[in-house]
Amino acid sequence: MIEKNFKVAIAGIGTVGCGVISILQNNAQHIQQQTGRKIEIVAISSRTKNRERNVDISVYQWIDNPVELANSDADLIVETIGGEDGIAYELCKKALENKKHVVTANKALLAKHGNMLAKLAEDNNVSLNFEASIAGGIPIVKALREGMAANKINRIYGILNGTCNYILTKMSDLGANYFDVLKEAQQLGYAEAEPTLDVGGFDAAHKLTLLAALAFNTPIDFSKTYVEGIQKITSDDIKNAKLFGFCIKLIGIAQCKNSIISQRVTPCMIPLSEPIAAIGGVMNTVIVEGDYVGRIILTGPGAGQNATASAVVADIADIARGIFIPFFGKQANDMATLSYASIEDRVGRYYISLEVEDKAGVLAQIATILSKQGISIESVMQKAHEEKPDSARLIIITHETLEKSLLKALDEINHSNVNKIEPHFVRILTVKK
Ligand code: HSE
Repeated sequence: MIEKNFKVAIAGIGTVGCGVISILQNNAQHIQQQTGRKIEIVAISSRTKNRERNVDISVYQWIDNPVELANSDADLIVETIGGEDGIAYELCKKALENKKHVVTANKALLAKHGNMLAKLAEDNNVSLNFEASIAGGIPIVKALREGMAANKINRIYGILNGTCNYILTKMSDLGANYFDVLKEAQQLGYAEAEPTLDVGGFDAAHKLTLLAALAFNTPIDFSKTYVEGIQKITSDDIKNAKLFGFCIKLIGIAQCKNSIISQRVTPCMIPLSEPIAAIGGVMNTVIVEGDYVGRIILTGPGAGQNATASAVVADIADIARGIFIPFFGKQANDMATLSYASIEDRVGRYYISLEVEDKAGVLAQIATILSKQGISIESVMQKAHEEKPDSARLIIITHETLEKSLLKALDEINHSNVNKIEPHFVRILTVKK
């Protein structure tokens, strides 16, 4: 029996949308062999019709209003418009209500409306696929939902933002400061003119929130993700990290212990011996720790036209083959609502950077303040201040401690008579062997 063409409409003909068209044009025969269906683009829509693109779109029916694609004869709508609300939201909602499958690369939308859209997809017996929304070309959704279905996931973490990884890698390689590297990244087109979504950690947090929901079978809750960006990381922190055998990366990490989830995106110091420490530039890495399989490491391009479009087309191919996996891997109604730990409940090692008066007894005074909170020092290094002869820089690595205790100690140090500038700390990733 000859299968009917599988009809697709694409909303958002920007970088990713053009990448999807390019793959569907260039690899048409290959994808037909893979899926047994010919994938046919029946309509496209975007904000701007006439602008330079790296694919020929003149052969496709153009619809001015993207939301109208939900009323087309397409079996599936690809949403690569972006944004957590607005047209992207309206289109996805209407398409699902009209019993059309949806494939989206939009993590912000799903971090906000994912629970509702997942339920809507299930109620209408269609798929809502989102591989491209997390770590670009890395097939992490498939790995988690299908490949690791036998496992309870203890922890999932990784480098989820290529822009931040590029900036931190360059700061480390060149000894350059944050603002100079950010400027260069903007000139090269890696960072946006308004970079907060990336450098503030929010893009990574959207992805982490989705990963946590998949890993721990719990509804998506972005408000429970603690977010800290890379803006306060200095080139000195990176140099000091190296002296202690660490590098610094923006890490998204979610873990579940005794039914309590902690999910956070923060800069982390990582032992240079860890595989993730070697992931430089715009690459992403996701590490999943399952109770039976152990540790899985997936690395690949987390952004860019081809990588992201590759994940979108893989989602289209699955649906064309007739593979329908619920959004969470199980019914949205069966999700367990768990509780969340506060960032202050974190237990781990910390790097502390202080600027203090360089005189007798100061080190002892700092050690006393830390010990009052039960914080034990693992290593300490003192350097003369390059510009201020009466000041010293003090770098301390602590043993494992509760973050709440660390914050109390740093507050006391900050208000002490020997302290010069606000203390600064970076969490150290806890490595499990
Ligand atoms: N801007 C993101 C990054 C890619 O730099 O990784 C899209 O989420």
